Order: sequence, then structure tokens, then C-alpha cells
Amino acid sequence: MSEKYQRAIQESREDAELFWTRAAALIDWITPPARAYGEPRGWFPGGTLNTAYNCIDRHIAAGRGDQLALAYDSPVTDTVRRFTYAELHEEVGRVAAMLASLGVAKGDRVIIYMPMVPETAFAMLACARLGAVHSVVFGGFAPLELAKRIDDATPRVLLTASCGIEGARTIAYKPMVDEALELAAHKVQDVVLFQRERLPAELKPGEHDWMELRAATAGDPIPPCAELAADDPLYILYTSGTTGTPKGVVRENGGHAVALAWSMANIYGIGIGDPFWAASDVGWVVGHSYIVYGPLIAGATSVLFEGKPVGTPDPGTFWRVMRRHGVKSFFTAPTAIRAVRKEDPEAKLLAEIGTGDCRVIFLAGERADPDTIAWLEEKSGLPVIDHWWQTELGWPAIASCFGLDDLRRKRGSAGLPVPGYHFAILGEDGQPVPQGQSGAVAIKAPLAPGAFRTLWNNPAGFDRNFASYPGWYETGDAGHFDDDGFLHIMGRTDDIINVAGHRLSTGQMEQIVAQQDGVAECAVIGADDAIKGMIPIAFVVPRAGFEGDDSMATRVLGAVRHELGAVAALKTAYVVGSLPKTRSGKILRNLLRKIVNGEDYGIPPTIEDPAVPDLIALAVRG
Ligand code: COA
Ligand code: AMP
Repeated sequence: MSEKYQRAIQESREDAELFWTRAAALIDWITPPARAYGEPRGWFPGGTLNTAYNCIDRHIAAGRGDQLALAYDSPVTDTVRRFTYAELHEEVGRVAAMLASLGVAKGDRVIIYMPMVPETAFAMLACARLGAVHSVVFGGFAPLELAKRIDDATPRVLLTASCGIEGARTIAYKPMVDEALELAAHKVQDVVLFQRERLPAELKPGEHDWMELRAATAGDPIPPCAELAADDPLYILYTSGTTGTPKGVVRENGGHAVALAWSMANIYGIGIGDPFWAASDVGWVVGHSYIVYGPLIAGATSVLFEGKPVGTPDPGTFWRVMRRHGVKSFFTAPTAIRAVRKEDPEAKLLAEIGTGDCRVIFLAGERADPDTIAWLEEKSGLPVIDHWWQTELGWPAIASCFGLDDLRRKRGSAGLPVPGYHFAILGEDGQPVPQGQSGAVAIKAPLAPGAFRTLWNNPAGFDRNFASYPGWYETGDAGHFDDDGFLHIMGRTDDIINVAGHRLSTGQMEQIVAQQDGVAECAVIGADDAIKGMIPIAFVVPRAGFEGDDSMATRVLGAVRHELGAVAALKTAYVVGSLPKTRSGKILRNLLRKIVNGEDYGIPPTIEDPAVPDLIALAVRG
């Protein structure tokens, strides 16, 4: 264990107040907080700040306006654009002026449904500057999902682009936005659209063209940074819960800025002027924290990559982009590495291109399988660190703190508790289980700075996370501590699955499938997948009269794609005579999982009809 890690974890446990007061000095406050923590306002009560000021203005004030802030690298459009902190200030300021001209002010919500272009980051930071609350919606979600978020967040303005570029495909965004606006009960006051050359869109009367609005407001002064309380919301990010309704995680300004500043230095080992790259999407929490806010708060250079690990143009793209920008720490999802490995198993492109100045690779979003880590460490010669976190937390809670010189790691484990987080593995009785034994992964309340303190419009939903184990946050993951104190995350305790690093709810997919014509009952489970980690598979039982309906599987798959979005990646549905159930009627999803994974399934003694599993296995094996 490194001395620095030992000291940090000890201080964070013995005197959290002192630990986080010190960390709070990493950011610029308008009014410094009186203390680190106090109910009812949570982290840094009394403190006021502006997150965008911390991301941009303060670096310029410190004389670093000419330093690179953002490097947009888009192999899909063959474009590289670089922005210094001074240029970023101007770009963000222009978008802030555009929004202000539409009446957007502190507390208003703005939905951002945009691809991985710099304008998306400008828009997020412009909202932060004004004190408006942004909610970025991932481009892979369908209109109905966008509509749900519009109705929950009730935004004044929606920002979008004409298209996204997904590998070789161009995806028109405008028709999806139009449909979502039709479906939503809430009426958005203004729509602003960024035209992309690849596929321009037609605007409806009253809608604004981004560049025209920018030109029209070019003479307006850049609005000042709003003064916000530490617990004022910075953004809402919707994530899959166990129901069809997405959970709006609310991120507060103060704790978030402090936690990200601390993590950039102490987890990722990144400081002023260091190039950092998180190859994720701004639609996910990783993109919020480590493409936009974290690296900028730290005064680093963030790489914003519009492409895929493979096919844009080849599996060498990661190494090429890394080299081009001199990336020092790199972050991606295990699924991306598996995709690269599949196409370049000998890592010839990696050997040819190299990793340049990169010192470490971080993986998160799903369990990193030991084989993938071993391959990447061998081929890159770099330490590969698996680390664990969730949208709810906003930054890593289990990791090896590279920035604290702690490189201890164990393949198959997500790492060690990050200072600020106190973990326990709890049994059904709510008591810690003996070391080595599996149970519910829980974190002691109050959660660290940056973690959620409520859900938008749904405080009761937030409280439910603390209901099973009073005083503890139930992460929804199952796992265990080993003898050396490493945490092993083994899966979820609910119906959430991770598909290519994307968090999805099988329960939500079941709700959609169950509503289709002729479906008597259904189950959707997560099956193992060599590249995506997991993929959803549906089992459908037709109602009487629909047994011969050949289109049923296709209809069901189409419905999930249409209602939830392409990101659901539901490509397989089996139409079967019945589902395996217990005598009390509970569907044996675990059994279905074993069957599709080709594992020995055995017949549980509680099963209603012992013949069903074999019939299902026959259907699966075709
Ligand atoms: N806008 C529109 N559609 C999108 C989209 C977006 N932003 N993102 C994904 N999709 C679509 C894809 O085009 C695909 O559509 P298809 O079924 O028509 O092919 C579908 O959603 C599923 O996407 P995905 O699961 O990502 O599969 P893929 O085959 O396109 O790519 C990987 C597989 C592994 C290369 C890719 O998922 C990847 O890079 N994953 C890393 C994820 C990540 O960074 N996660 C964040 C946590 S760190
Ligand atoms: P998200 O909110 O999308 O970040 O998803 C969070 C969930 O992803 C966690 O609750 C875990 O189930 C899973 N997850 C994220 N990182 C890891 C990891 N390193 N190891 C195992 N599971 C992970």
C-alpha cells in the first residue's frame, strides 16, 4: 500500500470534515463554505460557487488562457479541432448569450440531445455558467425515452443537432426530436438545432438555427457566472432504474466540483496541462465527469472523441488518438477493449502506433474480465486499472488510486475503497457478512461529496435506496471483500444489465414486450456476450390464437428498438410455449440465463413444470 493512499484513507475515515475541507480548497469559491458537511444541506453548506468558472475562467485568470482545454478528435468526419481555455471561454460565452436571449436563467432546465461534438460541451458549460440545469440525453435513446425526460425535467429549451454519426451510419436526430416533442405533454419553449454538414435538417417555424442564433446574439455581452449555492443543482442525468421510468439523478454544484478536482489528481494522476482522455459519451455519467467537468476543473486538456473503438477507421484508432494528443491517462470500457482485441488479436496496430506518453489505462462501466486486462497489460505494457462507480455517485468509489501512487491491483477485482467511501458487504439481515462471503454492496451514509442527494421530482425514490439497510446506501450490486481488502463486484441484485457498458433495465424491456399484440407473458434476461459483456434476450409466450404468428419475434424486437432505442441492443427473441416458473408463479430468470449461456441448469425442486427447461433449451439451440 502506498504511504499516500494509507494517509488519505486514514484521514478520510478519522476526520472526514478536515479531509474534505482541505479538498474544498482545490476549487475556487465565491463564498467559501463554513464547514465540509452539515444537514440538511449536505456538502459544503453556505458555500457559493460557479462550476463553469472553475472549469474555465479561473484558468484564464491564472494566466493559462493559451493552454489547450479541449481537443475534439473525430475520425468519422476526419476533423481535429483544438480549443484553448480562452477560446473555450468565448465559445461557451456565446452559447450562454444565446440561451440568455431565449430567457434561460438560473434554475431553468435545458435538455441537450446531441452527438459528440464540441458544441455539446459548450452547451453544458453554458448552462453551468448561467446556473441553468442541463439534462443530456444519450443519442441512442428513442423518441419515447426523450419524451419521458422532457416531461420529467420540463425544460424551457431543447438543444439538438441535425445528426449523429455512429460508425459508418448517419443518424438523423431531428425526426426523433420532432416525435419526442409530439409525445411529450410538456411544451418546450424553444428548440435550437446545430446543423452538421453530413445531414442538415429542416427547421420548423419558430425553431432556431444554432449558428444563426449565435450570429444574432454576437453583440450581446457574455453573461456573468451565476453565483450558486453548493447544493444548487448543476445537472440531471437520467439512468435506468428497476421500473420503466428513468431515475433523474441530481448533481449538486459544490460537492461535485470538489470530488472531481480531488479525483483528477488523486485517482487519475492528472494535473494542469496534462492531456486526459475518457473514451465515453457525454450522454453517460463518465462523459459528464471525465470528458467535460473533471479535466477542465483540473486545468487539464480533455479529448472529446467522436468515433468507435473499431471501424473508425480501424482498431488502431484508440492508439492513434492517444498519440496525437499526448494522452497521459486513458479511460474506456472493457467492452471497447474486447472489440479492439477481436479485430486485432495480436495488437499489431498497438505495436505499430504505440501508446506515446500514456502511463495508465482505466476501465469501468462493467466488470473487467481478467483475460481482457491481462491482454491489454501485456500488449500495452501499461498498468490497467479496473475501477467501479455509478451514475448515482458521479465519480469512482472503488479504484486503485494511481495519483496516490497506489498501483496495487488484482485482476477480477474492481479495486480498493476510494477515500471518502466506507463500504460494507451486508447480508439479508442487514449485518456485515464474514470476509470473503458475498452479499449486497453497501456504502455508509452520508455518501461522499458529488454523490446524489435526491432524485428529480422523486425524493421517495431516492429514499428507497436507503430503505433496505438503514444508514447504508444499497448500490444494487453484489460482491465481496477478499482477504487483502479488495472488493470484487460480481453482478447486480436487481434487473439492471450492462450492455457494452450501457446501463439498461430488463424490467423496462419486459414492460414493452408484454404490451405487444398476442403476448401472454414474457421474460427478458441478460446473457453473456464475448464483446458486449451482456446482451438482452427475450422469451415470449404467445396468447391463445397467436401460436402461429411468425412475425411475433420480429415485432417484439422492433417494439423495443422503437420505444427504448437502438442502444437496447435486443436482437434475439424466442417464442416458447411457456416459461419456467415456481409453483407460486415466479419466473425463474436465473434458469433462463443458464440455458442461454449454455451452462448446466438442473431442475429446481420448486419448479411448476419440470419439462419446461428442456423445451426452452431446445428452442434456444434451434
Ligand atoms: N446515437 C444513436 N445510436 C446509437 C448511439 C448514439 N449515440 N450509440 C449507440 N447507438 C446505436 C448503435 O449504432 C447500435 O445500433 P444498431 O443496433 O443499429 O447497430 C446500437 O445503438 C447498439 O449500440 P452498441 O451497443 O454501442 O453497439 P455497437 O456495435 O455500435 O458498438 C462497442 C459496440 C463495444 C464498440 C461500443 O458499444 C462501445 O464503444 N462501447 C463503449 C461504451 C462506453 O464507452 N460506455 C461508457 C461507460 S465508460
Ligand atoms: P452506470 O450508472 O451506468 O455507471 O452503471 C453502474 C453499474 O455498472 C454499477 O452499479 C455496476 O453494476 C456496473 N459497473 C460499473 N463499473 C463496474 C466495474 N468496474 N466492475 C463491475 N461492475 C461495474
